[in-house]
Amino acid sequence: MAIKDLIKFNDNKTTFIFVGGKGGVGKTSVSASTAIYLAEQGKKTLIVSTDPAHSLSDSLETYIGPNPKIIRENLYGVEIDPEMAMERQQAELNAKKSIASPDQLPGLDMLTDQLDLASSSPGADEAAAFEIFVQVMTTNEYDVVVFDTAPTGHTLRLLSFPDLMDSWVGKMIKAKSKLGSLTSGLKNLIPFVGDDDEDIASTAELEETKRKIAEAKEVLTNPDRTSFKMVVIPEEMSIYESERAIESLKKNDMNVDSIIVNQIMPDIDNCDFCQSRYKIQQKRIALINQKFKDQEIAQIPLFKEEVKGQKKLEEFAEILYEGKTPEQTAKDAIIL
Ligand SMILES: Nc1ncnc2c1ncn2[C@@H]1O[C@H](COP(=O)(O)OP(=O)(O)O)[C@@H](O)[C@H]1O
Ligand SMILES: [Mg+2]
Repeated sequence: MAIKDLIKFNDNKTTFIFVGGKGGVGKTSVSASTAIYLAEQGKKTLIVSTDPAHSLSDSLETYIGPNPKIIRENLYGVEIDPEMAMERQQAELNAKKSIASPDQLPGLDMLTDQLDLASSSPGADEAAAFEIFVQVMTTNEYDVVVFDTAPTGHTLRLLSFPDLMDSWVGKMIKAKSKLGSLTSGLKNLIPFVGDDDEDIASTAELEETKRKIAEAKEVLTNPDRTSFKMVVIPEEMSIYESERAIESLKKNDMNVDSIIVNQIMPDIDNCDFCQSRYKIQQKRIALINQKFKDQEIAQIPLFKEEVKGQKKLEEFAEILYEGKTPEQTAKDAIIL
């Protein structure tokens, strides 16, 4: 099956694509080119990045802010700074904490633990991505949403919240008079609960939060709604790191359907250095083929130039989704 056929569309419901892999392998290039490709197919597409270095803006060569912005026909982008978003929430929680005495706060330790977890890098980007995920999941405003961040440890732990909250909700009903600060802390932790002026979240609100997280998990584990793509380069460290990430996603019932092997060296005869790199990479490609039998594998050559700007990304997409060779794409994409 071609990698483009793995992307499924749902009537009136958003399809989610997560792109993961080690730093520098080509996640942003794959995410941005995928989003451009889908927008060209007429799908209303949103690309989400939580990289504070603004790599998505650089890749698309246009400023993308913290609110969804149109980039070109059918393509919208949002780039949020996770640390800033988390710092704001942490400050709100600290303010609440300082006005409450400890015995009014059953379970607050557990709550702050979770928040610390969410505010520490690299978990902050995942938590921010998760927040946007729940928002767009609820509105179904886009046909496709591409995330330039795949969930790993931190988001996966957030997804265990429904179970965690089962026990919380039970305890909270029993100790309702003591609830105030705890539940407002919970609101800070999970921003999509809503931020009305009420200090005490009702059991119904807690149940609603729990339901939303459970729904998020359902969407993330439904292969018709969500797919994960792993970008690797033909080097051992990238392969092993991705293998571990795939295992951890699998444990949480999330399946990676494709592996994109990027930056493959061409076979150049009259260059010892190139030949050495080429031979090592070919061995690693054999390892990739052997390790990732459950996934569709696509290959992308190393470009002569950087993959930067929408034109280059279009060419990248043609190689990835249309099976073209670099020579068949526009002439300035010619590789070494
Ligand atoms: N196939 C390729 N050929 C040449 N350069 C590439 C290729 N894929 C990515 N790059 C370049 O490698 C760098 C890292 O890519 P990027 O997509 O930002 O990776 P990540 O998001 O995983 O950190 C960028 O400068 C990009 O232009
Ligand atoms: Mg990136």
